Amino acid sequence: MISDEELTALMQAINNRYGLDFTNYERSSLKRGIVRLMLKHNMESIIELWSSVLKDNEFFINAIDDLLVNLTELFRNPDVWINLRDKVIPEITKKNRSIKIWHAGCSTGEEVYTMNIVLEKLNLLNSARLTATDLSKTALNKAKKGHYSLLTLKQYLVPFLKFFPGRDMADYFDYHDKYANIKPRYTTNVFFRNHNLVTDSMDDKFDIILCRNVMIYFDDVLKKRVLDLLHGALKDDGFLVIGYYDIMPEYGKSKFSIYDVKTRIYKKIPS
Ligand SMILES: C[S@@+](CC[C@H](N)C(=O)[O-])C[C@H]1O[C@@H](n2cnc3c(N)ncnc32)[C@H](O)[C@@H]1O
Repeated sequence: MISDEELTALMQAINNRYGLDFTNYERSSLKRGIVRLMLKHNMESIIELWSSVLKDNEFFINAIDDLLVNLTELFRNPDVWINLRDKVIPEITKKNRSIKIWHAGCSTGEEVYTMNIVLEKLNLLNSARLTATDLSKTALNKAKKGHYSLLTLKQYLVPFLKFFPGRDMADYFDYHDKYANIKPRYTTNVFFRNHNLVTDSMDDKFDIILCRNVMIYFDDVLKKRVLDLLHGALKDDGFLVIGYYDIMPEYGKSKFSIYDVKTRIYKKIPS
């Protein structure tokens, strides 16, 4: 068990040492992340973890992934992608403009490549511009490579087939011995960058922002900050997609109206 005091002290030390502020992350999820880290490295006390995290930069960079949970999926929640394909994206492009999308908390890239596969279906792959950001540098590096084990891809088959019944994943990936790479045509319109939703700003304006299953790790103070950031980064008629695990807090309801409740799609209410 990790006490609240131990957690606070460790997070403050990380903030001082690395400038990464986890103070407004949801505490029970951080505690679970710390336990995962300690088990992974056979550590018996938080002091051991403390020492490795603060002394060893490399250890810390990898540790972030255990703290942050990078879980993601290709075509995660297929109904969202069906709605984006049939309603949201056509609503934007009927206004005759090219589409700009931000994946905030893109993890290892599956969500970004799903988007590009959907855009290709709508003949928009070459005109759309995607910005994909995450706090985790390791997740981002994996995302850039678009390199997935065959075992991982196999787990994505069910949602993929729900979106594309009867279709073959080999149309989208180049297969090797034990892994597959997303085909290069799905990477050229994506700009991957390291970005911290807690502290960084966003200068660009987007038609759609996907920030799915990221805010679940934040407390209410941080959710408010992130919702303000996302609101400011959306065009006035833009859409926000949150995750099935996310709940729009009361504060967000003055900033975004529901577009489709089941798939957690919202429209910006302009200020
Ligand atoms: C559970 S994954 C969600 C991935 C994807 N959006 C999805 O729903 O499949 C959460 C991601 O949020 C990222 N994350 C956590 N805190 C963040 C922050 N402060 N700024 C940017 N990304 C963050 C994590 O690194 C992780 O990759």
